[in-house]
Amino acid sequence: MRSLPDLCNEIKNCKKCDLQFSRKKPVCGFGGSQSTIMIIGEAPGAKEDEMGKPFVGRSGKLLDATLEASLIPKARVYLTNSVRCRPKVGETPKNSEIRACSPYLRDEIEAIVPRVIVPMGNSAIRALGEIMNNDFGKVTEISGSIYYCKKAFIVPQFHPAAILRNPKRSVKFRENFETISQLARDVEIDPLDAIVRNYDVKVVS
Ligand code: URA
Repeated sequence: MRSLPDLCNEIKNCKKCDLQFSRKKPVCGFGGSQSTIMIIGEAPGAKEDEMGKPFVGRSGKLLDATLEASLIPKARVYLTNSVRCRPKVGETPKNSEIRACSPYLRDEIEAIVPRVIVPMGNSAIRALGEIMNNDFGKVTEISGSIYYCKKAFIVPQFHPAAILRNPKRSVKFRENFETISQLARDVEIDPLDAIVRNYDVKVVS
């Protein structure tokens, strides 16, 4: 298994797909190697591409504010993306790009072993599905559902950019993070069967 710094070095030199041509800086995951919660976004935006760090633009500000309001300490969160390089302006990552980038996500999950994984938006849900061998479906249908798969609880969530575009979903976005906050605390102390009962978890084998 590769360490997170080794993985980041590899990402910085990655030429596995055409996003190498649109990026300025590849963006590695960011956060502690012992994080309880892993949050997966779609792809770096303009600011992230400039700075080489995830969630430093408008979506990141909304995410930070919502984590704080939901009492989720940033120190317990690892941030990453379905692809590590910025797509062309206005484009979302292609399935082939998500697939090419998925070994990095797999290695991050293996290195960090997060108890709770939050894929935000359809690209992140697809990237996680690639690793977990499961078709979770679309965010509009499954946001806020809780799955247990390969020893992690998975809580799909809207992408903050979708909330900035359509604030009607902001209540659900906030509620989902409140559930995630409580779940992350409970998984530290409660046995698995109690969590599965208390949270209406769908077990994926
Ligand atoms: N949006 C994402 O999906 N990821 C980032 O890192 C920033 C914005």
